[in-house]
This record gives sequence, structure tokens and C-alpha cells, in this order.
Amino acid sequence: MKKDVIVACDFPSRSEVMEFLQLFGKRKPFVKIGMELFYSEGPEIVREIKKRGYKIFLDLKLHDIPNTVERAMRSLSMLDIDMVNLHTAGTIKMMQAALRGLVRPDGTRPILIGVTQLTSTDEKELKEQLLVNGAMDDVVIAYAKLGVAAGIDGVVCSPLEAGKVKEECGETFLTVTPGIRFKDSKKDDQARITTPYEASRMGCDYIVVGRPVTQATDPVGAYERCIWEFVYGKESE
Ligand code: C5P
Repeated sequence: MKKDVIVACDFPSRSEVMEFLQLFGKRKPFVKIGMELFYSEGPEIVREIKKRGYKIFLDLKLHDIPNTVERAMRSLSMLDIDMVNLHTAGTIKMMQAALRGLVRPDGTRPILIGVTQLTSTDEKELKEQLLVNGAMDDVVIAYAKLGVAAGIDGVVCSPLEAGKVKEECGETFLTVTPGIRFKDSKKDDQARITTPYEASRMGCDYIVVGRPVTQATDPVGAYERCIWEFVYGKESE
């Protein structure tokens, strides 16, 4: 599996995302489309970006009864996306239903990634509101193992957790990791961050990078820097 950089296109409208992607010319980064853009522009935005030759991670984090998730995943896989996700908290049978729904008539399917615990949830909330006892790290690994049991392809996690996930879930279980910042860039609202170079060394398969690329004065240069550090494993200045 080749490492890749996924650019989080967190824009509110079609015009803004298209203007951003045009900056890349013939380069076609792997892009992440989230709820904001999908819910404002609908599935047509996915078709349009796909038609232009980009790989797409559709970040909609599905979580519902198995039958509903299976049918929803069937609709999404027809958009010809490359990666999609769900909440592992939906249980093994929901994840298995998602996998069934994702298989296209030609036998192919997008990569299916699980969210274990949202990084916005802390251990106190986990215990007091969700009634889940246990250290966050253990809970993340336990939920990742549900993903392994269901047969999904990997999880979203911090680069700092990637090694443990690989250790516990197997080397081929994918780690898709946000929370990426350059040595010299702003942290924004991300608390536990690593550089693309560090993420590469930690064994992550994909990094998800938003603002360090989308808000850069030179977005293409920032993207190239991510590739240089993460894919080629070269430390930059
Ligand atoms: O701008 P930034 O690089 O922080 O964007 C990271 C992207 O990854 C955003 O789209 C954010 O929603 C997503 N994400 C995250 N942390 C998670 C899961 C997803 O930052 N645990």
C-alpha cells in the first residue's frame, strides 16, 4: 500500500472548492469531502470532482441501523468514491452490512474506514455521559478491533496511536491520520499534532491535511511539502 496525502476540502460551496482545486493544474490530490460540502451541494459535487480525475474520501461517518447503513453505502459506492467511513460504535453487524452495501456490481468497493472515538470526546465524557469505562487508548483499540472483526479496512486515528493500532490490529490494517501540522505552522484547534515527516515515520498509511494546505499562501507548495515529507520520508526545513 502506497502512502498518500489526503487534502481535506473543508469549503462551504462548489465555487470555493473548484477554485481551490484549479490551483493544482494537472496534479490531482486525493481529496476529502466532508459533511459541510456534501450537505450543501449534494452528491453532484462528488460526481463533478470525480469526473475531473480526483480520488475521493467521502467523510460522512455513517451510524444507523444495519439495513439503513447498507442501503446508504450502496448509494454512496455508486458515486465511484475511493474511501468512505462510519462509526465503529454501530457494532460489528452494522459494519458488515456497510461492507455488503459497498460492493459494486463489478465486485470492486471503496476502502471502508472506521471512526473509533471522536477526538472531541474526552475520558470524562466517555465515562460520565457514554458510560464507557476504561482509558481512552484502550477504548480506541477495542473499537478498532471491532473493525478488524467486521472486516473493514482501517481506522481514523492520531499518528501517535498508529503504531499501537498496527501492533494490535495487524500491519495491513490502515491508519488514516488527521492532526497534521508543519514544524512552522499554526496549531489551530488541533491539540495533539505531528508533522507529515513524523507521521511517515510513525507508520501511518494516509495523512489528512486541511488548513495547512487550504489556508496556505501557496497551497500547491504546501501540498508538495506534505508529499515530500510523508510519501518520500524527507524532513523539510
Ligand atoms: O484543517 P485540519 O488539518 O485541522 O483538518 C483536519 C481534517 O480532518 C478536518 O476535515 C477534520 O474534520 C478532520 N478530522 C480531524 N480529527 C478527527 C477526525 C477528522 O481533524 N479525529
